[in-house]
Amino acid sequence: MFSLDERLLMCAGLVRNGARLADIGTDHAYLPVKLLCDGRISYAIASDINPSPLESGRATAEKYAAENIEFRLGSGLETIDAEDGITDVVIAGMGGELISEIVLKSALTKNKNLNLILQPMTKSEVLIRKLCENGYEIASQQCAVSHGKCYTAMSVRYTGEKLECGDVFHYVGRLDLHEPESVRFVNNHIKNLENRSRGDESVLPLLGKLKKLVEQ
Ligand SMILES: C[S@@+](CC[C@H](N)C(=O)[O-])C[C@H]1O[C@@H](n2cnc3c(N)ncnc32)[C@H](O)[C@@H]1O
Repeated sequence: MFSLDERLLMCAGLVRNGARLADIGTDHAYLPVKLLCDGRISYAIASDINPSPLESGRATAEKYAAENIEFRLGSGLETIDAEDGITDVVIAGMGGELISEIVLKSALTKNKNLNLILQPMTKSEVLIRKLCENGYEIASQQCAVSHGKCYTAMSVRYTGEKLECGDVFHYVGRLDLHEPESVRFVNNHIKNLENRSRGDESVLPLLGKLKKLVEQ
């Protein structure tokens, strides 16, 4: 059996035991196959918008003799029906804007019992802002370093309560800044904002607040 890298391991850790999982943008299907073979989940739908990633996902499932996995071709959560009884959804390895579009477009995500595990590769601040504005709550969030890069993943629930979270929350979310990986992640935001501030001074107040937070 293979091991997941630290990024996918972080996502796997946020999936509930016994879940019926939908992995959206599954590509090689490492995450659902690993969780099924470890007996952590009971069923998985591995879904992707492109046929060739789905083929490599099928090959992974076949190689490791994973059972209770279905493969579906299509965009976002359009491949999932309420009758599938999905309890947990992973959307990992895509940009934050695309992840937010997928979440907001689907009526299925407006279910208070659904555990959405979101792992943006870029623009996590846009994803968090859109979640807050549309009635989704971040229940927990963490960071991991994988192949020298720092990534974040969050467990999200629909509450229906729309919140103005403020710009610092968009960048820091529910990260625990006692964790070195979380500080590294926020420092990456700070570096990007410093570059932006050379042509756009409006980001300076936010930059100051973030620097103060990581120095505490
Ligand atoms: C970089 S891979 C990430 C694979 C895996 N989730 C991971 O985190 O390692 C992104 C995958 O998302 C798929 N994808 C892109 N847009 C999508 C969409 N709107 N709906 C479903 N899958 C999508 C791509 O075809 C690709 O296989």
